[in-house]
Amino acid sequence: MGTMFAQYSNNLSGNSDATYRTDPFHESISSIRKMHPELLKHKRNETLRHGVRTEENSLKECVNCHANINENTGHYIDVNKKGQFCSSCHKKVSISVDCFSCHRPTPTKGGS
Ligand code: HEC
Ligand code: HEC
Ligand code: HEC
Repeated sequence: MGTMFAQYSNNLSGNSDATYRTDPFHESISSIRKMHPELLKHKRNETLRHGVRTEENSLKECVNCHANINENTGHYIDVNKKGQFCSSCHKKVSISVDCFSCHRPTPTKGGS
C-alpha cells in the first residue's frame, strides 16, 4: 500500500480551512491516505448504526474542511471537481467516487 500512495504530493494548495490550519488534524498523513476509504464506508457500524460521527469519519466534515473557495466568485468549489482535493488523487488511480449525487460537495456553512 505504501508505494501506492508515495507518488502523491500534498494537495492542500488551495484556500480551504485545511490549507490554513496550523496544527495537524489527522493522526498522520499516511494513515488518512490509507484509511479514508475504510473510515467513510457507508455500512460502517459505528457511524451509521450507533450514530458516532467524529470529524475524522464524517464526509460532511471532509467537505467542510477540504473544499476551496473560488476567489473570484467567493463561492465554494465542489470538492470532487476536477483538480480539487478529493478528485486530484482519485483521477490518477482511476477511482470515481459517486458520493456526491446524494451528499453535498460544498460546505453547508459560509462561503456565500
Ligand atoms: C478540520 C479539518 C479537516 C477535516 C475535517 C478533514 N481533514 Fe483531511 N486534512 C486536513 C489537514 C490540515 C491535512 C494536512 C495533514 C494534517 O495536518 O493532518 C489533511 C490531509 C488529508 C489527506 C492527505 C492529503 C495528502 O496530500 O496526502 C487526506 C487524504 C485527507 N486529509 C482526507 C480527508 C478525509 C477523507 C476527511 C473526512 C473523512 C478529512 N480529510 C477531514 C484537515 C482536515
Ligand atoms: C444514494 C444516496 C447516497 C450515496 C450515493 C452515498 N450516500 Fe452516504 N449517506 C446517504 C444517506 C441517506 C445518509 C444518512 C444521512 C445522515 O444520516 O446524515 C448517508 C450517510 C453517510 C455518512 C455518515 C454521515 C456523514 O456525513 O458523515 C457517511 C460517512 C457517508 N454517507 C459516506 C458516503 C460515501 C463515502 C459515499 C460514496 C462512496 C456515499 N456516502 C454515497 C446517502 C448516500
Ligand atoms: C492523497 C490522495 C487522495 C486524496 C486527497 C483523497 N483520496 Fe480517496 N482514495 C485515494 C486512493 C489511492 C484510493 C484507493 C484506495 C484503495 O484502493 O485501497 C481512494 C479511495 C477512496 C474511496 C473508496 C472508493 C472505492 O470505490 O472503494 C472513497 C469513498 C474515497 N477515496 C473518498 C475520498 C474523499 C471523499 C476525499 C476528499 C475528502 C478523498 N477520498 C481524497 C486517494 C485519495
